[in-house]
Amino acid sequence: MRVAPSILSADYARLAEEVESTRAEADALHVDVMDAHFVPNLTIGPPVVRWIRKHTDLYLDCHLMMDDPGRYLRAFREAGADGCSVHVEVGKTGELIAQMRELGLGTGLAVNPETPLDDVLPWLADIDLLLVMTVHPGFGGQSFMEEVVGKIARARQAIDERGLAVEIEVDGGIDPVTAPVVARAGARLLVAGSAIFGAPDRVEAARRIREAAASVIRLESARVGKEPGTGGDR
Ligand code: DX5
Ligand code: ZN
Repeated sequence: MRVAPSILSADYARLAEEVESTRAEADALHVDVMDAHFVPNLTIGPPVVRWIRKHTDLYLDCHLMMDDPGRYLRAFREAGADGCSVHVEVGKTGELIAQMRELGLGTGLAVNPETPLDDVLPWLADIDLLLVMTVHPGFGGQSFMEEVVGKIARARQAIDERGLAVEIEVDGGIDPVTAPVVARAGARLLVAGSAIFGAPDRVEAARRIREAAASVIRLESARVGKEPGTGGDR
């Protein structure tokens, strides 16, 4: 299980310290980019990514909630982004994936809660990461949408059936209660904003999320191990 703190809930005026406060339990840093068109909110762009890059060696996982991410992919790469995720809802998916690959970016495809899994299935073989939104994108601190769990499980099944190495990332309302639910469904990279930055001890908060998810996976593999051939309950 991997955990990516989302800086959307951090104090942007103290960003380097905020990132560092999660460092011991962070596997990546989730950077939310919002353009006020694709979502009704506005955050940051490549210049801020460039400054973050100077202060941390964490993998910078940039979630581009933008209508026209293609115009900015190179700028994010040059600023030091390691991976970007573009939304399938904005279209031109094939072109955007090719562009991310060419730039040497980790290649992610994000899918909103109401968008059917069918829209991403044709791209699974071409991406590294499937980012399943478990809230409507735009704001931190929203409630986890339980109805997306089935989609995570179906994505896991499609990835496994095709023998692909696509990682499933989930974003929105992740905390120690919801983490085991998404882990059981097949997510392995958990984004958490308010549950980490809203806690007095960020390292402890991230550790609790990871542990809650990991323990359910351990139980599941023990159970599957004891009953060979059952293949789990996916
Ligand atoms: C929402 C963002 C998320 C956000 C999650 O549009 O994509 O990354 O930071 O925040 P929490 O964890 O508070 O739901
Ligand atoms: Zn995000």
